[in-house]
Amino acid sequence: MLWITLGHTVIVTGFYVIMAGKPETDGPPGAIAIGRALQALGRKVTYVTDSYTAPVLQQWAGEADVVEFPISGIEESKRHAAQLLQDLQPALLISIERCGRSRNDTYLNMRARDITPQTARLDYLFDGGIPSVGIGDGGNEIGMGNLVDVIPSVDSLPDDPAISRVDRLVIASVSNWGGYGLVAALSQICGRNILPVADDEAQMVQGMIDAGAVDGTTGDAVPTVDNFSMDENSELLARLHSVVSTG
Ligand SMILES: *[C@@H]1O[C@H](CO)[C@@H](O)[C@H](O)[C@H]1NC(C)=O
Ligand SMILES: *[C@@H]1O[C@H](CO)[C@@H](O)[C@H](O)[C@H]1NC(C)=O
Repeated sequence: MLWITLGHTVIVTGFYVIMAGKPETDGPPGAIAIGRALQALGRKVTYVTDSYTAPVLQQWAGEADVVEFPISGIEESKRHAAQLLQDLQPALLISIERCGRSRNDTYLNMRARDITPQTARLDYLFDGGIPSVGIGDGGNEIGMGNLVDVIPSVDSLPDDPAISRVDRLVIASVSNWGGYGLVAALSQICGRNILPVADDEAQMVQGMIDAGAVDGTTGDAVPTVDNFSMDENSELLARLHSVVSTG
């Protein structure tokens, strides 16, 4: 597990909400929480997303670059992914709430609607053998390839799951919460609480909405994530803070 703290980390996120024509509030807050935690440990972080989510991340990325990956076809995306890996030389890739291609190379949302025209093919970054973590909550995110045979048998999950695999898959009710969980685990490993503060998270989610994000389940531009309120988000964070502070 030592590799998780070494070198440059690339974090990918951003999910297109077709009913609103906007990016969603699940993903970017968790990505920023992980990025800031790694930066607090002295690591270099770069966020990679597409044109829809870049404006949502920009304000919160601090010293980290936000790289916009073009939305294009398969071959061009593979070339772009290879070039980006060559340029950034990441030691670790983390995906949080990022759509991965299904078996027939299309990108599908939870309701099996095709969002390929609005989704950069970031999953090709994960095909090059770089150590990777995937965080998701719906079965259609990068990393769910690890469970590709199980997901279709669960009624509430997609029949056509994402096929990209990761070395370590984190599943959560809300992907942001999986991101907080990862930071809680990092906090325990390094003996230092590097979890985000609940009020700051609420402020950031509101800021992300101001920058164009919406709730992914309702499509509304209100401060909720997968229809969970910021109070519910705060309760979850409080529980993680208590776990970290009591070891
Ligand atoms: C890929 O699969 C999805 C889900 O079954 C389907 O909606 C879509 O039409 C398929 N696309 C192609 C190009 O076969
Ligand atoms: C969102 O939550 C509210 C209650 O807080 C509920 O009434 C509503 O049906 C939920 N919407 C969806 C799409 O789940």
